Amino acid sequence: MRAADLTVVLTGSSSGIGAEAARQLAARGATVCLLARRADELEAVWAEIVAGGGTAHTYPVDLTDPDETSEVVARLLSDHPRIDVLVNNAGRSIRRSVASSVDRAHDYERTMAVNYLGAVRLTLGLLPRFLEQGHGHVVMSSTMSTQVPVPLFSAYLGSKAALESFARSLAAENAHRGITTTVVNFPMVRTRMSGATDIYAAMPMMSARRAGGWLVKASLDRPTRVSSLSGTAAEIGMAAVPGLVTRVVTPGIRRMDKRLARRVRSAD
Ligand SMILES: NC(=O)c1ccc[n+]([C@@H]2O[C@H](COP(=O)([O-])OP(=O)(O)OC[C@H]3O[C@@H](n4cnc5c(N)ncnc54)[C@H](OP(=O)(O)O)[C@@H]3O)[C@@H](O)[C@H]2O)c1
Repeated sequence: MRAADLTVVLTGSSSGIGAEAARQLAARGATVCLLARRADELEAVWAEIVAGGGTAHTYPVDLTDPDETSEVVARLLSDHPRIDVLVNNAGRSIRRSVASSVDRAHDYERTMAVNYLGAVRLTLGLLPRFLEQGHGHVVMSSTMSTQVPVPLFSAYLGSKAALESFARSLAAENAHRGITTTVVNFPMVRTRMSGATDIYAAMPMMSARRAGGWLVKASLDRPTRVSSLSGTAAEIGMAAVPGLVTRVVTPGIRRMDKRLARRVRSAD
């Protein structure tokens, strides 16, 4: 697909991976619709794109609010006669063990509210237009941690696994009507989200720019999945020998977290 022909709705584009993807898609000529809560940050991304000769529009919205989401859907549909791609990238993460969450069911509700329900509502809002057009591509920002058993992120990972399943159903039911989906399984990426955990300062990570490129690839080439090699290998391992992979990987991640904590402490 030529980016120049596309109108792309991109959530979570006020910072991090989404802002990078918006810049890159706009630089290739796509019209980008920028969605997130922080209007000032959205304006800054918009200004940068417009200064570079690109086309962008801002839509401040809290995607956990059903009324705000319905309003933004109505505006998108009225502003743009054709919408080609929806990138569901807005998200929040919580790092906490299940045992530490016994009185924190709201953690699970909060992650589901944006990572899953926000994305589902927006997709349902745009789906009639996609069906009417005979085409529409939906990209989901997910994580490598759904491919491999990772401790401490149960609320986050439950919501991302739900999102991946929704994408699969959407494509299975509507591929013959021109609706396609891509799930992007990012490894760790250096952004505000990963920066919230102090020990990750010592971890080598993918840059937000490169991760933004993965969303561009997902939007233009439309593969079913964009994944790292290690994510794919872990998934094959989990399908073939889940017990063995779980026994090997989870203590390995605990050891890595301890190593990172030591490195961060010694750098202080
Ligand atoms: N960083 C990583 O290591 C990593 C790894 C795997 C997957 N991912 C996924 O990549 C995506 C982007 O994350 P990032 O790393 O780029 O972090 P980020 O910079 O924190 O981006 C998160 C984006 O989501 C938006 N958002 C959050 N809550 C929202 C809400 N209620 N309504 C509307 N927008 C909302 C934020 O904007 P506002 O605050 O302005 O609303 C922001 O633009 C997420 O889905 C994340 O799960 C990240």
